[in-house]
Amino acid sequence: MLDKYKSSTVYQIYVKSFCDSNGDGIGDLNGIRSKLKYIQSLGVKYIWVTPFFCSPMIDNGYDVSDYRNINPMFGTMEDCEKMIAEADSLGMGFMFDMVFNHTSDKHEWFQRALSGDEEYMKYYIFRDEKPAEWTASFGGSAWDYVPELNKWYLHLFAPEQPDLNWENPKVHEELKDVIRFWKAKGVKGFRFDVLNLISKPENLHQPSGAATRFCKDGPRVHEFIRELVTDTGIEDMITVGEMASTTLENSIRYTKPENHEMSMCFSFHHLKVGYKNGDKFSLMPPDLKMLRDYFSEWQEKMSDSGGWNAVFWCNHDQPRIVSRFGDEGQYWKESAKMLATFVHMLRGTPYIYQGEELGMTNAHFTSLEEYRDVEAINYYHILIERGNSESEALNVLSQRARDNSRTPMQWTSGKNAGFSESESWIGINGNYTRINVETEESDDDSILNYYRKLVQLRKDYRVISEGSIKFLDSGNEKVFAYERTLNDERLVVICNFSNEDEKISGIDVKGKVLIGNYSGSHKIMRPYEALAILEG
Ligand code: GLC
Ligand code: CA
Repeated sequence: MLDKYKSSTVYQIYVKSFCDSNGDGIGDLNGIRSKLKYIQSLGVKYIWVTPFFCSPMIDNGYDVSDYRNINPMFGTMEDCEKMIAEADSLGMGFMFDMVFNHTSDKHEWFQRALSGDEEYMKYYIFRDEKPAEWTASFGGSAWDYVPELNKWYLHLFAPEQPDLNWENPKVHEELKDVIRFWKAKGVKGFRFDVLNLISKPENLHQPSGAATRFCKDGPRVHEFIRELVTDTGIEDMITVGEMASTTLENSIRYTKPENHEMSMCFSFHHLKVGYKNGDKFSLMPPDLKMLRDYFSEWQEKMSDSGGWNAVFWCNHDQPRIVSRFGDEGQYWKESAKMLATFVHMLRGTPYIYQGEELGMTNAHFTSLEEYRDVEAINYYHILIERGNSESEALNVLSQRARDNSRTPMQWTSGKNAGFSESESWIGINGNYTRINVETEESDDDSILNYYRKLVQLRKDYRVISEGSIKFLDSGNEKVFAYERTLNDERLVVICNFSNEDEKISGIDVKGKVLIGNYSGSHKIMRPYEALAILEG
């Protein structure tokens, strides 16, 4: 049963920016349908699509006002059913995105709560007084006052995203019904948004600070997840929980099969190695030692304990990885392939975020008007308040904003990058004439074709899908190396994270090169070189 996802790769679609079928500049479900063959050609088994349910779109769909209906901006229920059926006939399954920590403030439940309906007030977290000075994830206070009720409510994200009260069993029943509804429609798995924030601390009178810090991995989180999964019968499906700032111990608990929680989870520590003092909006070059330490510790301990990771560099909340740990210029292709090799040979289920397989880069927006994301816009003002100049604030956004990964998918070198007939809702990256599916399809050596090989290798070699992992000392902190072993098979992966030739020592392996981004193999690793060698 587990093998189903151990040898599989997941493709992530950010629906708003993937493909627009009706020329309104916004990606949609029929756009996804028109590209299913392309997705199949990558070799992936599952497609996670970000929320397209009814929503006022304050947080681009992560503020759901109706879990069972489709936002007309994205299509109809019929389009959705066809999309599921067509993927099915191509041997792929959809994972839908369940946002269960909070709803939109426009959700009927919250609207009833606001009108003073006590039953629905219990669906959310209201208090007579503000218990603490917590800050919300997109800036500002996490507690907001409702004058009509003379009460405060908790929202870990935007004020338009009130947190649900998981202490109320009725909330569980409502949400389980949502899962059953989509399961009955033929969905093959689920991604659960910020799942480790659902259980709030008993005592909300905590010191001031970031609200998520006090709510992560809360006292009843494992119990809640197990109930959600077992009562809806989704234990056998692929499920992934987004676990903000979780610990290794909790990650293991969330994903050990005998616990009946998630098949895997996302954690983000590896993407914070360039956050100065842990602050996303304070710049610092990535700390490679931290990066390597994270992977070696988490990969090895997850492996030893029987937990399972989702492994990834990119998603709709993260700047593009080539711009971050690679090189957009001279070594664009080499660095994109190296980063891909590193992740796809790890133990875990790899996720590819739309455009990553092309080596798409950050947006390089130069004015605030180009940004769309609530977080980017709020933080611009916070950065100015902190004393930054306009250009400093814009520089931080150009490296850290989520909009960097939300520019439209680059399909062709033609009009609007082949994304839409009309101007898109967010700017298209100017490099689309060079970086696009059409161009890369016709180049055997492209990043796109390299990703296809990586996905295939996981299906072909059990040492990749099932082997255990150990990190190796390459004698050079810029060169990461690890071995995967299964029975008497041994695969050694060596990745140079620097833009220079790097000497390595102590890694002894002879055999067949399964994949690499330069030809030949030697003791000097060239700029961003990656190699995976099967011993023997
Ligand atoms: C998750 C989503 C992100 C969203 C947030 C609040 O982190 O990935 O896009 O803003 O949850 O729902
Ligand atoms: Ca559209």
